[in-house]
Amino acid sequence: MRTDLDPAELGPGPFYRLLTASIVPRPIAWVSTRSAAGVDNLAPHSFFTVACVDPPMIQFTSVGKKDSLRNVRETGEFVVSIATEPLFEQINATGTDFPADVDEFAQVGLTPEPSSRVAPPRVAESPIAFECTLHTALELGDSTVVIGRVVHAVATPDVLDGDPHDGGLPAIGKLRPLARLGRDEWSTIGEVREITRIPWREWPGHYPAPPIG
Ligand SMILES: Cc1cc2nc3c(=O)[nH]c(=O)nc-3n(C[C@H](O)[C@H](O)[C@H](O)COP(=O)(O)O)c2cc1C
Repeated sequence: MRTDLDPAELGPGPFYRLLTASIVPRPIAWVSTRSAAGVDNLAPHSFFTVACVDPPMIQFTSVGKKDSLRNVRETGEFVVSIATEPLFEQINATGTDFPADVDEFAQVGLTPEPSSRVAPPRVAESPIAFECTLHTALELGDSTVVIGRVVHAVATPDVLDGDPHDGGLPAIGKLRPLARLGRDEWSTIGEVREITRIPWREWPGHYPAPPIG
């Protein structure tokens, strides 16, 4: 026995809440932008993922017409800082609907750190940031998918297990990322499990044994 749910019957609000409580956990892009008038802006976006590997691209979705989206359209630049556990309250506070001429860095007490390749600042308190130039703003109904090409990245050594030039990567226990769930719920990383993917040639019974000799 299943409950059937028709988007048209449920309506956009309830269906949105169903989607966001089902598609979980979602990582959080802390998106900084600068308006054409020079006002810095910072807002969390949990409709966020990797969009392309080569060239590296990431994407977030603006639901409705928000300051972040307007700034990206005006300037073609944004920065995604990674949302981590120690920054929980500040990340939430930057989701407040401040007017466009209010700088969230100043309101929330965060440090704007100059970026290397784009004008919007990074969040100094966040351990990893990706500087992006706008590739595509794809309008879909009431939302816009913003895809940015990553032109520079920075990481704090504290969250890495080694130098990325030698294969080092963010260590999950050091990075401690936050994620959004449904309702007003957020989550931290729980149990971490490891498993390797099975190549087709090693799948039991589905590949002829390699010739001997
Ligand atoms: C954790 C979190 C995740 C959010 N994710 C999104 C999102 O994916 N898309 C969106 O449009 N708004 C999202 N919001 C709401 C925006 O952050 C909020 O509307 C904010 O005021 C937008 O700021 P801006 O107008 O300065 O761009 C999220 C809020 C929080 C707290």
